[in-house]
Amino acid sequence: VNLQSDLLYLSRLPSPHLIAENPILIFDRRLLKNNQIKKWLQKFPNRYGVDAGESLKQIISFNVHVNALLKIVERVKIKKITLVAIGGGSVGDFVGFLASVFKRGVPLVHIPSTWLAAIDSSHGGKTALNAGGCKNQIGTFYPAEKVIICKQLLFTQPEERVSDAMGEILKTGLLCGGQLWKTMSLEKHFDKKKLWLYLPHLISYKYKIVEKDPYEKKGLRYILNFGHTFGHVLETTQNLPHGVAVNIGLRLALEFSADQNIISRNDLRKIYQTPLMQNHLANPKDVETQLNKIKNISTYLFQDKKLSKKGLLHFVFLSKPGKPFVIEVPVSSMINFIK
Ligand SMILES: NC(=O)c1ccc[n+]([C@@H]2O[C@H](COP(=O)([O-])OP(=O)(O)OC[C@H]3O[C@@H](n4cnc5c(N)ncnc54)[C@H](O)[C@@H]3O)[C@@H](O)[C@H]2O)c1
Repeated sequence: VNLQSDLLYLSRLPSPHLIAENPILIFDRRLLKNNQIKKWLQKFPNRYGVDAGESLKQIISFNVHVNALLKIVERVKIKKITLVAIGGGSVGDFVGFLASVFKRGVPLVHIPSTWLAAIDSSHGGKTALNAGGCKNQIGTFYPAEKVIICKQLLFTQPEERVSDAMGEILKTGLLCGGQLWKTMSLEKHFDKKKLWLYLPHLISYKYKIVEKDPYEKKGLRYILNFGHTFGHVLETTQNLPHGVAVNIGLRLALEFSADQNIISRNDLRKIYQTPLMQNHLANPKDVETQLNKIKNISTYLFQDKKLSKKGLLHFVFLSKPGKPFVIEVPVSSMINFIK
């Protein structure tokens, strides 16, 4: 089993031949707002612009996109095509799924344009569509042959996008522990340049976990959901960006770890006192404000697709940096903790 993709780190936008022999680009239309990116996209004769976001992942509009792709393929008259996803996680999830089923599977390349996609979603082969009003109900495991991490493309994002990504960055540092945590935890300020330097370490951690449990069968890959149980509720109900919701979810997961005596208050204080956490972890006030806005958190927790028949949810706890644990807990104790 190999969900590893070839990884390419580039400072400049890649020339077409570096991507694939017959690439068909499916890109986030928003990228056309940047003139350099627009010129680059125009070098590719076969391309299809989409509007990024959760609506792109709706199964009901899938047919429209398949028809558009069929028209391009008809025009190209080449059998060996490669689909290239250029955009954030929504574009990657959608194109990944499309590539996995189109003509029973065609090669796929990811070129992420958001930090979230660069750190997380373009690696590990999970593809997804939304159905029945819920996220990611339809999907396949379909790794990209190649993932191109391009500095010029990622740096077109405004600086504040780094803070949106902090949830996933902190999560990886805490899960990984060891030298990565040691170095990272001393960072006071994360900007684009710093994030670019950390990117290979954050990405290689994800591959390390995915390699050991590619299809999420052994429970190990599940630790990547650290901070996501509460995070997903906030993302859905408050419409917060994924990374922001995960950041709040991380503080809640850490507090819940202390509440359940999995981490000592003293060890937790040490984590909170690191420059990284002081400056970048969601502060308790924001956490409280967001929690107060959710009317009936229990409804959302009970909707979690991983809920067992006994009303238990797998929750990722941390006993210290680098030592996550997955334990089944009753949703009721999570609700009591939130109160
Ligand atoms: N497959 C996985 O393993 C996995 C993991 C985590 C998240 N996800 C999925 O990823 C999605 C969230 O990722 P996302 O936040 O990247 O989504 P996104 O694609 O919706 O992008 C977020 C916003 O950023 C804009 N954008 C993209 N590139 C930009 C750029 N260079 N400059 C300025 N704006 C830009 C988009 O137009 C969009 O408005 C969700 O659908 C989530 O379910 C998947």
